Amino acid sequence: MTNRAFVAGNWKMNGSRADIDAFVDQLKPRIDDHLPRMAVCVPFVYVSRLAEALGGVGVATGGQDVAGETEPGAFTGEVSASMLADCGATYAVVGHSERRAMYGETDDIVVAKTRAAIAGGITPIVCVGETLEQRDADEVEAVLNRQLGAVLEGCSDEELSKIVLAYEPVWAIGTGRSATPEQAQEIHAFLRSQIAKRADTLSRSLSIVYGGSVKPDNAKAIFAGDDVDGALVGGASLKADSFADIAHAMASQSATN
Ligand code: PGA
Repeated sequence: MTNRAFVAGNWKMNGSRADIDAFVDQLKPRIDDHLPRMAVCVPFVYVSRLAEALGGVGVATGGQDVAGETEPGAFTGEVSASMLADCGATYAVVGHSERRAMYGETDDIVVAKTRAAIAGGITPIVCVGETLEQRDADEVEAVLNRQLGAVLEGCSDEELSKIVLAYEPVWAIGTGRSATPEQAQEIHAFLRSQIAKRADTLSRSLSIVYGGSVKPDNAKAIFAGDDVDGALVGGASLKADSFADIAHAMASQSATN
């Protein structure tokens, strides 16, 4: 399996302390050395509990957002990267389409959060993706170029080498309608080619994962694309078994490549 392989869960605004404990109990026996790097991104308040429960399991903990500010101060409600790291997290989702659409996150904010995450020792999982209207209007590449372009422009090569990129078409998120394996591969190859223009070595080492209705029954087909390095999983990450099934699908797909 390549070093790029990565499967992350995004619990969104779901879960409880009891759910975290039950999830980890069920996940533990499903983890083995053949699996890709894995992380579970939970609401801030559960980060510590998840990180403690996952101690020694080999699955990382993440938040679902991070402050764009790095220094402590008067930023009510914000959680900094160093606070996440202090609570045992090593990842954070940044620029998820729900945050872009519902909480006004602009490309500039996404860049600030990406950089702040890295500065605080957190790996940002930076999300990009088009809406259905944009796809229908043939604007996919333009939208992705704008979203990814901001990150490429705002970050140094060193910073870029520390991110995970997630392609999440908005029309596929939580809809049960995932991108086809061909669509995912086509866009992932496009994203990688855009990064290659900046730095070839970087484009070859960067993990680009797909997100949007990934389930145990479609994961292996989606992972078949050479440029699809894994998944950011929403709904199917709430159950340990389906999340583990997706990680195992990545492992078996990589084994056949
Ligand atoms: P989904 O969500 O797997 O429930 O479609 C993916 C995401 O939003 O990260």
